[in-house]
Order: sequence, then structure tokens, then C-alpha cells
Amino acid sequence: MLRNHWYPILEAASLRGGRGKKSIGIKRFGIDLVLWRDAEGKAQLLPATCPHRGASMAGGRIVEGDLVCPWHGFRFSGTGHCTLLPCEGPDVRIPKALNLPVHPIREEHELIWMWWGDEQMSYPKIPFYDDVEAYGGYTEASYVLPYNYSRMIETNLDLHHAPFVHGNVIPVGTRMLDFEASLDGDRITSTGMLVKEKIAARGEKKGMMLRADLILPNLGLVALTPSLHLLVCATPVDEEHSWLWFRYRQTYTHSAMLGKILTWISVHSELRVVQKQDRRIFDGMTPGTIDDFPYAFVHSDKAIALYRNLRSQRLESDRRLETEAVFRAHSHPASSAAEN
Ligand code: FES
Ligand SMILES: [Fe+2]
Repeated sequence: MLRNHWYPILEAASLRGGRGKKSIGIKRFGIDLVLWRDAEGKAQLLPATCPHRGASMAGGRIVEGDLVCPWHGFRFSGTGHCTLLPCEGPDVRIPKALNLPVHPIREEHELIWMWWGDEQMSYPKIPFYDDVEAYGGYTEASYVLPYNYSRMIETNLDLHHAPFVHGNVIPVGTRMLDFEASLDGDRITSTGMLVKEKIAARGEKKGMMLRADLILPNLGLVALTPSLHLLVCATPVDEEHSWLWFRYRQTYTHSAMLGKILTWISVHSELRVVQKQDRRIFDGMTPGTIDDFPYAFVHSDKAIALYRNLRSQRLESDRRLETEAVFRAHSHPASSAAEN
């Protein structure tokens, strides 16, 4: 899992605030987490396991903006501090062992984002497709899939499987023309036209122009038409599972209601047809990450190859930084001992 990035972890709309609302539990990066909205409506996140005696706080009540553990009622604020031990009364000194570590989160683009990595003095901007126009309503959905997230990201950059897997809903040809893929910083951009073989054989370029982009670590954009975009991400639940989120946006109409209907139909055909077709392929794949297979890439896979290279470079630099940190931690006690 690539460190030191912002990852989308939940749709902001699914985190409801207000009286009587409970917290919700999710698992990301192999950690059980609990999220809620505090008294000001601000999203908060903590590890879900209570430091007192290990109950899960997922689903716990919210009182005065703090999370209440369902077992003995200990309360926790979004800063990770334990604020109340009902059994000991309000004047007791609360032991530090009852505090929880905090993972930074943000709410942007109607998503909750979590920082996965080292603590920073200041955090970078959340990556998004700000340059791609979006208006007039959207629809989104998400669910957990039993595959490593890197394989899900790879498939969002794969345009030329469409005629074989989704031919009955996406009427594209099998020949990829004018395919281009490039890398700019943390962003991969790819475009190509899928043309019916008969038309390509006549030397004509009449087909469906598609675009698939990725912003590291995991935010994809597929333009099915210039006015219908699919935003998609796969965030690690653990090594073997991903949280797949997708949102259809459109620029056909400024009407929020028509936009909602159009994107609702797109999301539901994606859920009922397109993703079921993909799963038939995924279920037959050998489990593992994108790095576990040699692959024999062809030109139309260039965007996937760029992702794999970029990912392995970043994993390598993460490993180097980790080794340096361990080395520093070990060298410090030795140097202070020498000084004494
Ligand atoms: S286990 Fe949470 S308060 Fe006791
Ligand atoms: Fe697909």
C-alpha cells in the first residue's frame, strides 16, 4: 500500500450527523475504524477498538460530539482523548493509556479522505480532477470486493477489454487506434479510439473515443463520452479486499434533476451489468497484487504499465524511507550513550 497519500475512504453523505445518530464502522488499510460527526458536524475518525478492554466502538452513540463506547460508556473526542470514565466519576485523572492515535482526515468533493502515512507538519492538497468540468447532478455507489486494490486500479485503466467483456452494453469495436498514454507527476492520462474491425480495415477512424486517467494513489477517471464521466477509486480494506467507490457525473444538462436521472441510470447499469461482467473475469484471476505477475504488455496497455512502474518506484522509495527511519531510531540511543 502506497504511503503518504490521501485516500478516499467513504462517501461524505453516508456519515449523517445530528441527534440520535450513531457512529459507523469501516475497515481500511487493515485497521478497523469508526467515524462520526461531532457537535459541529465535522467528520471524526478513530481506531474502532476501545483502548479500555477492547470492545468495538463501531455503531457507538454520539453524546455532545464525543463517541461513547457501548461496553462501559467511556467517551472519546475526535482528538483521540478519552474525556469521561463514567465508573470513576467526573473528577478522576484520565490515564494517558486511554488515548487513541489519530489519523488525519478531510472532507472534500463529497468524500471523506484519510491520510495514510507519516505525520506531517502540513499535508498536501487532496488530488482531484479539478480541470474536468462537472455540473448538473451525480450519483454514486460503493461496496467491498474480494480483490487487491491494485488490480482494481489497473482495470480502470484498461480500455480494450470493453468489447469483449461489455460488448452488449458498450457498443465498441475491438481495434484500438491512436492510443496514447503519458505520465505527468502523479497523473496518468490515456486516450484511444475503439473502432470496429471492418471500419479499421477500410482505413477509417470512426469509433468511440475513450479516456482513462489515474491520479496516484487510486483515483481514476473514465470518460465514456465527453459529457459522461465515471470517477472511480479502489481503497485497500486489507491486502485481499478493496472498497470500490464510483460516481457518475455528466455535463449534458445543467438541470440537477435530469442529471440525477441520467447518472442514476448509469450507476445502476454499472452495478447490475458492467461490474457483474467484470467480476466473471476477476473471480478467475490468480489472487495477488499487480506486482505479483510478470505480464506481457502490448501498446494498448501502456497506461497500466505506467501505473505499475510508478507504483513500484514509490513502493521502493517508501521502503528506503522506512529503513532510514529504523536506522535513525537505532543510532540515536547509541550516540547519546557515547556522550554520557
Ligand atoms: S471496553 Fe470500551 S469502555 Fe470498556
Ligand atoms: Fe470492465
